[in-house]
Amino acid sequence: MNMKKLSFLLLAILTLRCLKPISSACHVDDEAGLLAFKSGITADPSNKLSSWKPGTDCCTWAGINCLNNRVTSLSLGGQPDQPNTFLSGKISPSLAKLKFLDGIYLQNLNFSGPFPDLLFGLPNLQYVYIEHNRLSGRIPDKIGNLTQLGALSFYYNQFTGPIPSSISKLTRLTQLNLGGNLLTGSIPYGIQNLKSLTLFNLEQNGLSGPIPDFFSSFSELRILRLSRNKFSGKIPASISALAPKLAYLELGHNALTGQIPDFLGNFKALDTLDLSYNGLSGIVPQRFVNLTKIFNLDLSHNYLTDPFPQLKVKGIESLDLSYNSFHLNQIPKWVTSSPIIYSLKLAKCGIKLKLEDWKPAETYFYDFIDLSENEITGSPIGLLNKTDFLVGFSASGNKLKFNLESLRIVKTLKQLDLSRNLVFGKVPSGVSGLDRLNVSHNHLCGPLPATKFAASAFLGNDCLCGAPLAPCK
Ligand SMILES: *[C@@H]1O[C@H](CO)[C@@H](O)[C@H](O)[C@H]1NC(C)=O
Ligand SMILES: *[C@@H]1O[C@H](CO)[C@@H](O)[C@H](O)[C@H]1NC(C)=O
Ligand SMILES: *[C@@H]1O[C@H](CO)[C@@H](O)[C@H](O)[C@H]1NC(C)=O
Ligand SMILES: *[C@@H]1O[C@H](CO)[C@@H](O)[C@H](O)[C@H]1NC(C)=O
Ligand SMILES: *[C@@H]1O[C@H](CO)[C@@H](O)[C@H](O)[C@H]1NC(C)=O
Repeated sequence: MNMKKLSFLLLAILTLRCLKPISSACHVDDEAGLLAFKSGITADPSNKLSSWKPGTDCCTWAGINCLNNRVTSLSLGGQPDQPNTFLSGKISPSLAKLKFLDGIYLQNLNFSGPFPDLLFGLPNLQYVYIEHNRLSGRIPDKIGNLTQLGALSFYYNQFTGPIPSSISKLTRLTQLNLGGNLLTGSIPYGIQNLKSLTLFNLEQNGLSGPIPDFFSSFSELRILRLSRNKFSGKIPASISALAPKLAYLELGHNALTGQIPDFLGNFKALDTLDLSYNGLSGIVPQRFVNLTKIFNLDLSHNYLTDPFPQLKVKGIESLDLSYNSFHLNQIPKWVTSSPIIYSLKLAKCGIKLKLEDWKPAETYFYDFIDLSENEITGSPIGLLNKTDFLVGFSASGNKLKFNLESLRIVKTLKQLDLSRNLVFGKVPSGVSGLDRLNVSHNHLCGPLPATKFAASAFLGNDCLCGAPLAPCK
């Protein structure tokens, strides 16, 4: 760094230091509101709020942003897998003193209690992301008063009851995310008024009834997630209006019936399509050949039949066609040639193959491979030798014939299911690090290594012995 830059930097730092107390000392109401919020917190094991001290400038406190001495946003978050970074307690109604607040971001914490009514006292509030907490009870009808909101997310809380129809008044919303709650009832038809939505997520609730046929008004929608509910009926025709922009369409784990509509083949921007675990029947539309940019396709656990279209996709990342009525015979070429694939699930897809003859362009990134319930012969030794991150390999119910002792078990591997094949040799001690193992119904023999697995993982072999099976003679 040259001298000129350095002196400019010093000057800048000095100026900032002199100005800071004047320009951003926080307003007395904001300080009082935040201290009351802090006193509603019953546990802060990682000392997130240690900088929140009375008499110090609240604009310097962790998680606080100010503009012209007023607090404009509160953002606190824990680490998803580390409960010792969570805050516990209730969200204090005194937060409503922060009249200039425009965003509340409280993510991966442990706040409990009912819907935070304080939101109704904050006329400048535009963004609410209270995600992965434990708020409960009903979402009140008066939510329709929060007409200034641009984004509302209560993703993963424990709200119950119906979605109030008054939500249709929140016409400025670009994001509505009520996924991961315990909501019931049907989707209020009035949601069609929320024409600016780019994200609409109701996944993982107990919602039921048909998916409303109201999508023609959603010209901006990019993400539609309704998976893991109890929706029934057909995929509504008006979804075709989303063709230009929709990137994520997730309707899996519902009770949808009828056919996959042809128009889905026109979705130029589609990245992810999940229709798994429904009651869909008929063929996959030939027009799917035009889905050249799809990365994630899950049609598993339906009643779909042949022929499956030859997709022209350049690289698929994850594919699951398992448990339909397909007879693919081979692993499709567009799968074998994908340079970026990491998850391949083709269980019960009528594949007839000698595994050594399958020469995928890329194996390095694989984390899941499931080829169960096919007519696959040969050995997976070469394939598993070429993966470095594999987490799960399932090939139960095939005719694989190889010595289990020669199988490379990579460090990342957690699940191995080779049950009902023709595998021989001994069970190697390397399997003891797995979370799940099933080598039952093969031709294995010899003493078992010490593992935590139940007898059912080893039953039906030629001459395995030792715990959890009978002692060796
Ligand atoms: C969450 O808060 C409840 C009390 O409301 C407490 O019993 C529980 O231990 C907290 N969990 C974590 C992970 O902090
Ligand atoms: C919501 O708005 C209605 C009128 O639209 C009004 O009567 C009611 O008091 C408002 N509720 C809240 C909590 O602001
Ligand atoms: C794919 O799209 C092109 C034009 O976008 C169209 O002419 C063609 O018919 C489509 N293919 C199928 C199978 O629908
Ligand atoms: C496994 O890979 C190594 C190189 O990474 C190679 O030397 C070895 O022959 C391979 N073994 C099998 C059975 O393919
Ligand atoms: C192993 O597989 C067999 C047959 O596929 C099944 O019956 C058994 O329940 C499985 N056991 C375990 C522990 O997964």
